[in-house]
Amino acid sequence: MTVRLKPKQAIIALDVSSLEEIKNLLSIIDKDLFRLKVGKQLFTSQGPKAIEKLRSLGFDIFLDLKLHDIPNTVSKSLANICNLGVWMSNIHLLGGREMIEEASSTVKKINNDMILVGVTILTSLNEINLIELGFKASSEEIALNLAKLGKENGIDGVVCSIDDISGIKASMGSDFLSVTPGVRMLQENDDQKRSGSIYDAIQFGTDFVVIGREITQAENPEGVLKKIESLIV
Ligand code: C5P
Repeated sequence: MTVRLKPKQAIIALDVSSLEEIKNLLSIIDKDLFRLKVGKQLFTSQGPKAIEKLRSLGFDIFLDLKLHDIPNTVSKSLANICNLGVWMSNIHLLGGREMIEEASSTVKKINNDMILVGVTILTSLNEINLIELGFKASSEEIALNLAKLGKENGIDGVVCSIDDISGIKASMGSDFLSVTPGVRMLQENDDQKRSGSIYDAIQFGTDFVVIGREITQAENPEGVLKKIESLIV
């Protein structure tokens, strides 16, 4: 089956400390084909001015700060984020019902156009980590439960692992967005990693894929971009 990406379905994670580091890369990314993700690394170094700069180049920005704090702090921080004009931002669903509810009502009040998604379980945690943290259920069950809590309290979708996409879509409906980070494109000789591939993520019905180091740390970023562009129709 041929896998196709829609324009702007792939989000490039700019995990760098300064935009200067990726000046050349930025000049070759087509804003009509890709969106960009600014995370903690760039934001803690350059702050809102990085967002302003990228917006001035015409890019849609996903500000990935995974807010996780008491409801008041999260909602006040989100109010600030709403004024940055980003396309999407996120909170951590483990912050609980009240936090999620306050976060989504703040976004609805201040910038209803901004998409708010919730992180379920970080893909860097395995079942052993979850047991150590005191969780009794599997990562799939926890992710689904958090997605339900998020939906009930007004968020637009989740950041989830490739393994959780189908279950979350089946249970929450196709309108509930899924954002899948850490997917890999260049796996032609690397079949054992297919479960993390961009191809699987698209086939499982994800709405957005996030690709980071595979582009930003590539020897030939333009070549990787071209490969991804070849999937876009
Ligand atoms: O470099 P790589 O493609 O692995 O980039 C992964 C990106 O996705 C990073 O910016 C990381 O913060 C983000 N991520 C995430 N949630 C996860 C795993 C990775 O937001 N569960």
